[in-house]
Amino acid sequence: MIELETTTPFFQDKQEVVDEILSRYPEEGRRSALMPLLWEVQRAERYISEARMHEIAEIVGITATEVKGVLSFYSTYHEQPVGRYHIQICSTLSCALAGADEMYDHLVNELGIVNGETDAEGRFSLQKAECVGSCGTAPVLLVNDTYYERVTKSRCRHLLEALRRDEMPEPWRERGGDNEGAEKATPFGGAEGGEA
Ligand code: FES
Repeated sequence: MIELETTTPFFQDKQEVVDEILSRYPEEGRRSALMPLLWEVQRAERYISEARMHEIAEIVGITATEVKGVLSFYSTYHEQPVGRYHIQICSTLSCALAGADEMYDHLVNELGIVNGETDAEGRFSLQKAECVGSCGTAPVLLVNDTYYERVTKSRCRHLLEALRRDEMPEPWRERGGDNEGAEKATPFGGAEGGEA
């Protein structure tokens, strides 16, 4: 409760943002603004605290418990702080068949954290996710809300190297291949297994 009394409201100086979001929906559909409001907070703070839940509940005219219910339904929203780069690995069937388990093991080894953890530096967090809707380009991982598809070992390595430099690489343009060269295009879970 102390948090609720002392935290400066997130939207205090963002009335224009609130108005724009609310204007997308009719008055009777005000609660539809919940998702974009949650997203505004998460994008800025990387998670949604109890105080923010109460604030958003008040804006859309529902209870904080209802906000929390929505929040816990969607794995894209976080109730606890996550790393600056929140990596979600799709672990559902198409991605599993394309090597998602091996990709997860690779990331665990590289980052020293497991599913649900954040590293000590607060840079990386790791989370297994259900289907993220891009099954045709498996295996897929997300960094925050950016999709990286057809992830090979070399792509994964380059992605981590860039993130360690605090560079967020553009998602690769070639959806069907690895332009690092055939010898580096080793897939996760593939029989070739040539690249560490
Ligand atoms: S199974 Fe991974 S995106 Fe659908």
